[in-house]
Amino acid sequence: MTTRALPMTVSTQGLPAHVSIYEVGARDGLQNEKTVVPVAVKAEFLNRLADAGLTTLEATSFVHPKWVPQLADAAELLDLLERRDGVDYPVLVPNDRGLDRALESGVGHVAVFASATETFANKNLNRSLDDQFGMFEPVVTRARAAGLRVRAYVSMAFGDPWEGAVEPAQVATVGRRLMEMGCSQLSLGDTIGTGTPGHAEAVIDACVAASVPVDAIAVHFHDTYGQALANTLAALRRGVTTVDSSAGGLGGCPYAKSATGNLATEDLVWMLDGLGISHGANLDALVETSVWMAGQLGRPSPSRVVKALSGG
Ligand code: HMG
Ligand code: MG
Repeated sequence: MTTRALPMTVSTQGLPAHVSIYEVGARDGLQNEKTVVPVAVKAEFLNRLADAGLTTLEATSFVHPKWVPQLADAAELLDLLERRDGVDYPVLVPNDRGLDRALESGVGHVAVFASATETFANKNLNRSLDDQFGMFEPVVTRARAAGLRVRAYVSMAFGDPWEGAVEPAQVATVGRRLMEMGCSQLSLGDTIGTGTPGHAEAVIDACVAASVPVDAIAVHFHDTYGQALANTLAALRRGVTTVDSSAGGLGGCPYAKSATGNLATEDLVWMLDGLGISHGANLDALVETSVWMAGQLGRPSPSRVVKALSGG
């Protein structure tokens, strides 16, 4: 018998029966650490997350090692990892060189990451808004020809620290171009966490109006202003069923200083449990993993649920 607190399950109309959790802690979380986490710790983190029942674990990035030194060990990590049946380990790739490296590591799922704004395309990809598509197009074509699944992110889909609020129509235009290239999923990234629930609905609606099917949309909220869970609920009400989150609320973007951690997977799972929405994860195992990871990083997890359930 469990002795810990549990949410009472009370379902409500207009929500999906199941949500797919796309776990980004090992990539989005660890790319932002000041120090490089040892590769064995990364592998153990991913193995523990798989043990906790998560089935999509974004593992790392094949980006330029000088741009993100924290993930320079991508190939070594994929070698070390126990890749489990039924667990998908997508990786970020920005360009042909990244795809070559990912293919050498035997990955089955890659993600390109576009920007909705000119300034961030420049800062994060060293490309103009328009030129980023020329970089991604051959990656998507080659990856699909090799039988890989391809996800696309649109970063700064809500606000940009240099350009301010971003028009939903602009996000939809970028998203549509990525889907037309052959990407199968579009993750809407609130990189700096400025979005609010009505805004989340507007961005999703704009993408759907631009012919992106709602079941191809994922949401990726950073929790900088405490809005991530509210935004997620708004997205679920709009028909979205894939939610990005990071164990323990790790996260950020090294090229967007105002970005903090992602929506914590544990906070998401608590809400889904309360709503009676299935997700396949074991909350106790997640909390245990995040407490262990916080010990490795030397600071407590920002997740409210991790704090509450670990007495921290
Ligand atoms: P660049 O300097 O313009 O690259 O960087 P280039 O194409 O001019 O190539 C220069 C040299 O780099 C060449 O070597 C390439 O081979 C090498 P040389 O011929 O001079 O010896 N090179 C590479 N080496 C290893 N792996 C590669 C690679 N590419 C080129 N993949 C580039 C352009 C895109 C590579 C660079 O800007 C980059 O790596 N950016 C990544 C930034 C990043 O990872 N940001 C964080 C992820 S995005 C995010 O967190 C947001 C998200 O979570 C969603 C949200 O929150 O909104 C996804
Ligand atoms: Mg992110």
